[in-house]
Amino acid sequence: MSLPTELCYFVAAILFMLSLKWLASPKTARRSVPISILAMGLAVVPTFIQRIGEPGGAGIGNTLAIVLGGLVLGSAIGFVSATKVKMTAMPQMVGLYNGFGGAASLLVAAVEFLYKTGHNPQGEIGHMSVGDSIPVHLSILIGGICFTGSMAAFAKLQELISGRPVQFKGQHYLNLVLLLAGIGLAIALTLNPLASWHLAAFLGLVAIALVLGWLVVIPIGGADMPVVISLMNSYSGMAVTATGFVLRNNVLIILGSLVGASGLILTRIMCKAMNRSLANVMFGGFGAAPIGPAAATGGTKGTVKEASVEEAAMVLQSSGSLIVVPGYGMAVAQAQHAVRELAAQLEKNGTRVRYAIHPVAGRMPGHMNVLLAEANVPYDQLYDLDQINDDFANTDVVLVVGANDVVNPAAKNTPGSPIYGMPVFNCEQAKSVIVLKRSMNPGFAGIENELFVHPKTMMVFGDARQTLTGMTAALKEAA
Ligand code: TAP
Repeated sequence: MSLPTELCYFVAAILFMLSLKWLASPKTARRSVPISILAMGLAVVPTFIQRIGEPGGAGIGNTLAIVLGGLVLGSAIGFVSATKVKMTAMPQMVGLYNGFGGAASLLVAAVEFLYKTGHNPQGEIGHMSVGDSIPVHLSILIGGICFTGSMAAFAKLQELISGRPVQFKGQHYLNLVLLLAGIGLAIALTLNPLASWHLAAFLGLVAIALVLGWLVVIPIGGADMPVVISLMNSYSGMAVTATGFVLRNNVLIILGSLVGASGLILTRIMCKAMNRSLANVMFGGFGAAPIGPAAATGGTKGTVKEASVEEAAMVLQSSGSLIVVPGYGMAVAQAQHAVRELAAQLEKNGTRVRYAIHPVAGRMPGHMNVLLAEANVPYDQLYDLDQINDDFANTDVVLVVGANDVVNPAAKNTPGSPIYGMPVFNCEQAKSVIVLKRSMNPGFAGIENELFVHPKTMMVFGDARQTLTGMTAALKEAA
């Protein structure tokens, strides 16, 4: 690479790191998006210009038209899908992007291997040292697992296939055998890239990677999908790093490492939020909790206490302290502005309002934070699970806005429940609980919720935004 290109890479790498750092806070997250776009431009454009000028580069024959056509088509699809996708479908979108990253790494490494082993128009054989081979086979293995694993996660989240765990006897042993076979083939190809059987072994390696990705994800239940998405995100980064070594491209190595490491950190945060160990995740043994009758129903016994909008507003009016627990239903109802207006009205009455944010509330990491930031809810009113869970006992009212699994006491009380062991909010410890949802339907994990029949709970049925707007109007009238 020429000096100007390397300098652009250097600046791009620094900008990527800064934008990642800024993403860590809602105050700075917005600025990180244009900076990442700039960094990506600094990585892609100089590479492209340099390759055009190289012998056999993109400027030769109709290669330029193919590369430019791909660039324009890919950018157009990316732009249209990013502007059209609903916020609620964002996890599937992230899943698809992770998968395409893995597929690109696999394809680049496959071309490199086939080209250097004589599968080119001239039949030329290139030199492939051990150092060249290792990243090629890592790219294929990790890229393939990432591609089909992400596609399985996408299919589950998009409900193209069942979100329930798909399990069979000996599944984890089969995965282990496939992984060992893949590693064995990669080692054999590294040591003998030109052996007579190299093409069969190469195709075997690709097939194993693709099958393994699918098999690792299908036994995982819907409620564990956040962990899968962040793990696949990390895999896509690792595959890109390996591809960076294949192409000897520094910015790819740096960018891939950043994605791989941040994906792993996110996976750890998600594991902690769902009370799963990382080892458990890596070996695909999660989401496999047996679902017995008690788990399916949450052992729910009791009577639902339904309340009107006005009755709920009266309870709120007399409260000195309120914790709002937002969940996926707030995103569906787009109720974040209505929540903020209700809170402002209550604050005028002297009520202390705080928001409890569960790490897996909604359908993507930071989902609730993004929505509440959009509605200008002050950051200092947002509290993580660890920070606020002990305060529920000293709180007058908890307002659950379209949350279900993250407030389900079955996670604490019902061994065998698919969410047993996941830390959840202690809503039932507050003096009163108001739950806003449309029906008694279960949440993402598909299980009933005993909080909804708890003696302290009143259910206000309806679309969360309409209910909140009605409660604010009732409070204003009473003021
Ligand atoms: P959920 O358990 O999914 O419950 C959402 C509730 O919102 C539903 O019970 C639904 O009940 C209600 N709802 C839907 N539309 C509504 C509307 N317009 N107005 C009022 N209520 C509405 O949500 P949660 O508590 O946020 O838990 C998140 C779940 O998703 C967890 O199981 C988590 O593991 C999983 N998950 C999370 C992620 C990430 S990274 N956050 C990614 C994938 C999956 P009604 O239909 O009765 O209204």
